[in-house]
Amino acid sequence: MSTIQTASSFARAMQDVEARYSAANPKSGARYREACEVMPGGNTRIAIYYSPFPLTIARGEGAYLWDIDGHRYTDFMNDMSAGLFGHSNPVIAAAVRTAVDDGLTLGAPNQYDVELAGVLAERFPSIELVRFCNSGTEANLFALALARAVTGRQKVLGFRGGYHGGVFADPGSAFALNAPLLVGAPYNDIEGTLEVIEREAHDLAAIVVEPMMGSAGCIPAKPEFLQALRDASRKHDIILVFDEVMTSRLSPGGLQAALGIVPDMTTMGKYIGGGLTFGAFGGRHDLMERLDPRRSDMLSLGGTFNNSVTTMAAGLAAMTQVLTPEANRTLNRRGDDLRRRMNAAGAQRGLPVQVTGVGSLMNVHFQHSPIEAPSDVVPGNKRIVDLLHLELLLEGQYIARRGYISLSLALTSADVDGFVAAFERFLDRHSAVIQDVVGPDGA
Ligand SMILES: Cc1ncc(COP(=O)(O)O)c(C=O)c1O
Repeated sequence: MSTIQTASSFARAMQDVEARYSAANPKSGARYREACEVMPGGNTRIAIYYSPFPLTIARGEGAYLWDIDGHRYTDFMNDMSAGLFGHSNPVIAAAVRTAVDDGLTLGAPNQYDVELAGVLAERFPSIELVRFCNSGTEANLFALALARAVTGRQKVLGFRGGYHGGVFADPGSAFALNAPLLVGAPYNDIEGTLEVIEREAHDLAAIVVEPMMGSAGCIPAKPEFLQALRDASRKHDIILVFDEVMTSRLSPGGLQAALGIVPDMTTMGKYIGGGLTFGAFGGRHDLMERLDPRRSDMLSLGGTFNNSVTTMAAGLAAMTQVLTPEANRTLNRRGDDLRRRMNAAGAQRGLPVQVTGVGSLMNVHFQHSPIEAPSDVVPGNKRIVDLLHLELLLEGQYIARRGYISLSLALTSADVDGFVAAFERFLDRHSAVIQDVVGPDGA
């Protein structure tokens, strides 16, 4: 197929779906135009922007969302994993109501923070002491600052294409505050990474790694790669930080417990606050104790909302009464099954579908060639995911624009069956376009 034909078959399909989407969502379209008057590009969070305009969601209940034009969606995005409990878990809602009734912004230790810290220390093998904060970004900023302070070294080794929050994005980004300190290494490449570590070790305070890259497309780290990081960091006294902001949900004790590889520190965020603003970092006693205010050499670290009473109450209820270890395992089994069914749907049709991920987090890609690092994702094929996204929205199935799927406890088997059926209809409707864009070898 020539490039011109390829471009036009895709462009026609995209034009058509955008026209149907715009016609179906006049109120969201108007709202987006209003938003552009007061927010840059109408947006306040890049992950929720997509063209031609994002839907404005009026409300959520259980596993479902309703937009302002009145359509209902089954939510397979769940706020990029923060919505693990669905939109109206009664146990969490009751805990938040009690906390609200007992007064907001108390500005003191409260009735929930110690217990929530205890739950995290009990579940996650690396966590002996923990500090709360307000987001995954903050958790990484604080953990890495602590690593620098403790080691007296300056640099941090991160992986090309990884994501640790707005200020750690692509080192070329204007917002990558730490860019001069982040040394890029190749993910899942043991030899390439060890070379960088050996070269930089004298000034490396920390290595920060996602045990499965989330934003880059749900790319799991190979266990032997993580083990090599563990061994090299020990050898050179570098602090190994697992960014489990996304992956802590992938077993009751996070990916670290599932893989049996224990880092020195762990950063967390997203769902642990029961759906409210949350961040935390924790780890080895001898590192974290530097934050102890009783020490004369303590490292001072504040944060007005670090133990926000609503977040602590919601998080404690969520992690003890709702996301029990058994509920966690069931959710991840359901994700493994969904991924298998979507891959089978592609294989049955001879289409280059590759749904990557672990348990309840996954990402749709359209290519056959293996994806072990962000650079393996064929950039031109990503536009098929744009088409998939809008077609699924028109079917009442809500996923992230980049093809990311994150399950919630509120989803039923019938919801999952409905999603797989909608995905199969997409493959049947657009098989020619997919083959045109990807090319005959399905690379
Ligand atoms: C692995 C990882 N680290 C850090 C962050 C940043 O978390 P937050 O958006 O809460 O600042 C994210 C967010 O998606 C993430 O996926």
